[in-house]
Amino acid sequence: MTSLLIRGGTVVNADRAFVADVLTQDGKIVAVGENLTAPPGATVVDAGGQYVMPGGIDPHTHMQLPFMGTTTMDDFFTGTAAGMAGGNTTIIDFVIPNPQQPLMEAYTTWREWAEKSASDYSFHVAITWWDETVKRDMGTLVQQEGVNSFKHFMAYKNAIMCDDETLVNSFKRALELGAMPTVHAENGELVYLLQAEVAKMGISGPEGHPLSRPPMVEAEAANRAIAIADVLNVPIYVVHVSCMEAADAIARARARGQRVYGEVLAGHLVLDDSVYRHPDFATAAAHVMSPPFRPVGHQEALWRGLQSGNLHTTATDHCTFCAAQKAAGKDNFAKIPNGTGGVEERLAVIWDAGVNTGRLTPSEFVAITSANTAKLFNIYPQKGSVSVGADADLVVWDPAGTKTLSAKTQHSKGDFNIFEGRTVKGIPSHTISQGELVFVQGDLRAVRGKGRYIKRPAFSSNFTAAALRAEALKPTAVKR
Ligand code: URP
Ligand code: ZN
Ligand code: ZN
Repeated sequence: MTSLLIRGGTVVNADRAFVADVLTQDGKIVAVGENLTAPPGATVVDAGGQYVMPGGIDPHTHMQLPFMGTTTMDDFFTGTAAGMAGGNTTIIDFVIPNPQQPLMEAYTTWREWAEKSASDYSFHVAITWWDETVKRDMGTLVQQEGVNSFKHFMAYKNAIMCDDETLVNSFKRALELGAMPTVHAENGELVYLLQAEVAKMGISGPEGHPLSRPPMVEAEAANRAIAIADVLNVPIYVVHVSCMEAADAIARARARGQRVYGEVLAGHLVLDDSVYRHPDFATAAAHVMSPPFRPVGHQEALWRGLQSGNLHTTATDHCTFCAAQKAAGKDNFAKIPNGTGGVEERLAVIWDAGVNTGRLTPSEFVAITSANTAKLFNIYPQKGSVSVGADADLVVWDPAGTKTLSAKTQHSKGDFNIFEGRTVKGIPSHTISQGELVFVQGDLRAVRGKGRYIKRPAFSSNFTAAALRAEALKPTAVKR
């Protein structure tokens, strides 16, 4: 029996914070309370002056993703290991079938790739095309494989972009199955047109990237997806909300009573679009991701969304490409592989810019970095909670610890760090995964293949409520 006692810390859950020891046995939390006794042979961690929180859950990563003609630097081992160094214990990654590729084939491939994960992981599955087999396989994924969320890329024309027909069919099917539709909200047709127009203006460098993807391109897609979800009475989760126009679309829908949820990336909270005007191509290109970093002002709107409860989760969209890979777009910004890292830095960046500034309480921090994701994707309180019976996935957080973030010291395999040079106060001292110490004061002990695939059951009550609302709103037949 493996036991671990975390002694003398302040437990922080999304609903409250309190002084307590935490005892874990064989991968589960078995006691939370004051003055717990360590069983014989237990490992004891002194958490005096520190917080004990549920391990971070990153609901949006891309490890080992084949994308834009190349494959990300981090695979499922290096990426999840880097995540653990940053206090994360679970990621939700994406299975992305090519158009016409059977869903189950892509799912099997990704499951194989992910077997090397060091931390627990789960999968959203992207719907990139539509026919009856896709509809059938969505059912298999939900009912047999524990997938309860489907992703729709409204951008990336001529690749993985999902048209409105697919969107409508898939949203409807998701409702039937009790699964959550999610969207990458950018109008892919507009991006395609604007990329050509920006190129015609003679702009070929990374500064063209944000010009081709302005906020209204994101807002149009967010509004459209939200409207489709409203008509079909299905909840919807908008990934990487980057601008105030999209955040406003979500807030407006929520004010009307619609179940709309929004995710924000750590990068979008603290970086602005000046990064694309850096004179060095490699530096500017390293920041190319979609939606792009936004002009100053949008970041504050995203913080307010998190503070007000109109935005719910934080992620990274961790998708690392090295300088040689980014160089594919040396003469054409549209060919720069889209993606940036951050799985290792998210918690520290958000703590520093969110809690240290007074924007968030520690409990609100736990909500947006772990608990809300667990609730929205139906794995709470197994994940996202320091409570008896939950998985022993924990982070011991040192609020006084400091670190200067850098590509030179990161565990992620990428050769760039979008937070380079940022000194953060508040860092993980210990990460515990399945009751084992996997990160101890800078010493990463990630074990290849130790991570488990986490099944996420379909929703029932929320969706029943939505269906009932649909029933109530049905027009009464006019008898003539
Ligand atoms: O630029 C990004 N975000 N790359 C990863 C794919 C996606 O859109 O999430
Ligand atoms: Zn995306
Ligand atoms: Zn993504």
